[in-house]
Amino acid sequence: MDSKELPDLFRFDDGSRVVSKADWRRRREELLSHILEIEYGRLPPKPGWVRADELHSHVAEAFGNARHVQYQITTGPQGPFSFVMDLLVPDGNGPFPVILNGDGCWKTVTDEIAMLVLLRGYILAQFNRVTIVPDNAALGKNVGLYRVYPHCDFGAIAAWAWGYHRCVDILETLQDVDRSRISIVGHSRGGKTVLLAGAIDERIALSAPNNSGCCGAGCFRWQGSGSETIADITRAFPHWFPRKLAEYAGREAELPFDQHSLKALVAPRGLLQTEALSDRWANPEGSWQTFAAAKEAYTFLGVPEKAGFWFREGGHGHGPEDWKAFLDFADSLLFGKPVERDFSANPFPALGSCFSWKSPPVS
Ligand code: GCU
Repeated sequence: MDSKELPDLFRFDDGSRVVSKADWRRRREELLSHILEIEYGRLPPKPGWVRADELHSHVAEAFGNARHVQYQITTGPQGPFSFVMDLLVPDGNGPFPVILNGDGCWKTVTDEIAMLVLLRGYILAQFNRVTIVPDNAALGKNVGLYRVYPHCDFGAIAAWAWGYHRCVDILETLQDVDRSRISIVGHSRGGKTVLLAGAIDERIALSAPNNSGCCGAGCFRWQGSGSETIADITRAFPHWFPRKLAEYAGREAELPFDQHSLKALVAPRGLLQTEALSDRWANPEGSWQTFAAAKEAYTFLGVPEKAGFWFREGGHGHGPEDWKAFLDFADSLLFGKPVERDFSANPFPALGSCFSWKSPPVS
């Protein structure tokens, strides 16, 4: 087999193939188990309880009279462990859909972007993922959430994804929140986190990784020129992963999955990838290949339009242009609003496909 051929999403480890939606549920579990074991580690457990204490609330005139509410989220009984989530709630009557972003460490959500989100009628919820575990290999494992679960093997990306899930635990309990319309968005390493968090948590209606590359929306087997490999990423960022991933450096074709498998776990819920064509390190071609393959799962489940791909010229970044594309997709997916953009356009028509299988006929 061509070493770039992506594994058949629908073929169980025992060689049999998915023929029904019930089979797909089982195959989903099989894929998730491989992905967690090798790539991210098993997420820290769901805590016995999660609580939110309001730290602060005021009307923010600079944001169109949105209400800024700050919560301290605490989980237990292990720990206890706490971190902060901030909400900007649009002026007016809810419940409102929510967009949750964990890249508070980078402040990529500028005031301009916050206004774009609020003007479309969404709550903007934010936390700082590095308050869950730090983004620094040198600090070791005696910090943050690692100390609460010392016997688990999760890396930082899994811990950050756990942070998203705990925010959703609280969002679901708030009167202002339309719990059926919670979306998550993140950039680069934050995009890897969002893809993992959205693949696992079926409460999340839309997952939108931006420029997320290797171990995100990228591809291990199909590396475009200048793109990051398993060897590169595990050398530079060992704290993001369990040790096992590095064993696959140079042996990518032996992985029992590729990143299309992770994307397929999001189905039938919404998935939007936003990519930048000059962001070579993030492997835009590979991101398209795994998107096209993951779309077979959406086709099988009867909702091909729920998976979208958007690309722009330019390099690595998460700016207003990316957010506008995301908001258009969210408006269309969650509210059926008409959209001008084509979220299924192939930016690389000359590339050719890297999978020879198809989704089984819908039963
Ligand atoms: C590095 C890393 C990428 C990551 C990026 C980021 O470039 O190699 O995998 O996506 O940082 O998070 O900005």
